[in-house]
Amino acid sequence: MLKIGVFDSGLGGLTVVQALSQVMKGAELFYIADTQNAPYGEKTKEEILQYSLDITQYFLDKHQIDALIIACNTATSAAIQTLRENYPTLIIIGTEPGIKPAIEQTRTGKVGVLATPATLRGDKYQQLACDLATQQNIELFEQACPGLVEQIEKGEIESSQTKEMLEYWLTPMRENSVDTIVLGCTHYPLVGTLIEEVMQCKLTLIHTGKAISKRLLFLLEEKGHINQGRLDMKLYCTGTINNETVATLLQSEEKMKQINISKS
Ligand code: DGL
Repeated sequence: MLKIGVFDSGLGGLTVVQALSQVMKGAELFYIADTQNAPYGEKTKEEILQYSLDITQYFLDKHQIDALIIACNTATSAAIQTLRENYPTLIIIGTEPGIKPAIEQTRTGKVGVLATPATLRGDKYQQLACDLATQQNIELFEQACPGLVEQIEKGEIESSQTKEMLEYWLTPMRENSVDTIVLGCTHYPLVGTLIEEVMQCKLTLIHTGKAISKRLLFLLEEKGHINQGRLDMKLYCTGTINNETVATLLQSEEKMKQINISKS
């Protein structure tokens, strides 16, 4: 059976798993929420790279995965290049802020980007944003959201504190007629409703779970995968996790099992 490894620092990658579960069949999916090391977005590039290498090696040793999904914009930015160099035969798909689809969809020409500090300062994002926004004459409103991932991990997806944080970050976007916001962190779709509420306008929110799923299916079918049968999921975390949110997101009662992936 085909084996797919998916990881993120926590719950966020489950927004990608939701999309994968709509598309993938005849496979076993292993998910690691690296909650022991979360949040990634406030760590150095070297630290995030090391976590990503350890998890990938664990997936290969323990589950012999055929494909890896980095369901995390921050880890993609820090690690995808090295992972592709180190594992040239493994299918590796990363997650990147959907600036291109946002530019295609905006009517006001004002696009917001919400992401972690590490993603926004990464070379990959800087290059992409600079090339696309200049070519298309788009005004980008970039906003790092330190602390938002922790709020989401705590289950505070509707709390007044989370709303206040979003008010602070989104006010400049609201005042400047931003009509499209890129959710450049896989955790942020979980506060999508709150973002819409704070923006008080007709808003397009861009996230890339569907595009990732389509790409994975395309690459696997090219290698002969027959997309039929069940998708089995095994969920793991390296620290603690809010299993209630897991249950809501995946509509399953399965709890994440705690594992230790450190090499010692
Ligand atoms: N969900 C992750 C992302 O897409 C990382 C969040 C974090 O741990 O800071 O960037």
